[in-house]
Amino acid sequence: MKIALIGYGRMGHEVEAVALAKKHQIVLRVDRDNPADMERLKSSGADVAMEFTTPATAFDNIRKCLEQGVPVVSGTTGWNDRMDEIHRLCRSVDGAFFHAANFNIGVNIMFHLNRELARIMNQFPRYEPSIEETHHTRKLDAPSGTAVVLAGDLLERYPGKKAWELNETSGKDKLLVRAFREGDVPGTHVVRYESPNDRLELIHTAFSRKGFAEGALLAAEFLRGKKGVFGMHHLLKLDNTGRS
Ligand SMILES: NC(=O)c1ccc[n+]([C@@H]2O[C@H](COP(=O)([O-])OP(=O)(O)OC[C@H]3O[C@@H](n4cnc5c(N)ncnc54)[C@H](O)[C@@H]3O)[C@@H](O)[C@H]2O)c1
Repeated sequence: MKIALIGYGRMGHEVEAVALAKKHQIVLRVDRDNPADMERLKSSGADVAMEFTTPATAFDNIRKCLEQGVPVVSGTTGWNDRMDEIHRLCRSVDGAFFHAANFNIGVNIMFHLNRELARIMNQFPRYEPSIEETHHTRKLDAPSGTAVVLAGDLLERYPGKKAWELNETSGKDKLLVRAFREGDVPGTHVVRYESPNDRLELIHTAFSRKGFAEGALLAAEFLRGKKGVFGMHHLLKLDNTGRS
């Protein structure tokens, strides 16, 4: 595949390394210093664009990919408020868009288990649910996009909690989501249920960014020849209730 890298930071470099190892070709690199090169997407011959930038830039980058007819895989988090707009644009131009808050396969299995666990734990109100995430200090959004998915999925299946709140809660009906920033942690997520007597936890620990890059490449290969809006539940076929 011919790949355009939109965002050439930590994830852009990681995706490049995995793509080259799989004999794909990088035909364009766009970063903060050369945003005008977004206009060269189509002429670069890219089969797919891989977008890992910032919450403030993702929407416009993805829009430009779709308007030029280039399928786009995005992993940028922190811009969920405009996701529906992109979905509508994708459908209106008959384009192809794949987004995941987390491309790691293990995390997506955790999403599946989190939904099942919430459904079960809803019957045992002595267990108080909470979510915790830890990432490197340069991460721009908090809580992480992954924690937002975990919280949203839990809330859908746990009627005693009406909304999540960050770092402290204003009442019993709120789900606590804690975000920690330390060192170079690639991403650790915990879903916890605690009673006065015991604690049950789902924990996922990423060792490096390679797992994200490999998942994003699988998404790009999956997107080939398809039209529409896709997420990891389409790729992994764990169930059809996932959000991303
Ligand atoms: N979905 C996943 O699996 C996953 C995994 C890791 C990170 N992320 C997310 O991906 C995003 C990028 O993460 P990162 O660790 O690579 O960050 P990073 O800061 O290392 O890289 C972001 C890059 O985007 C560039 N950039 C800024 N404005 C741009 C623009 N207008 N056009 C093109 N490039 C621009 C920056 O110069 C930088 O090189 C973040 O939102 C992060 O949360 C997602």
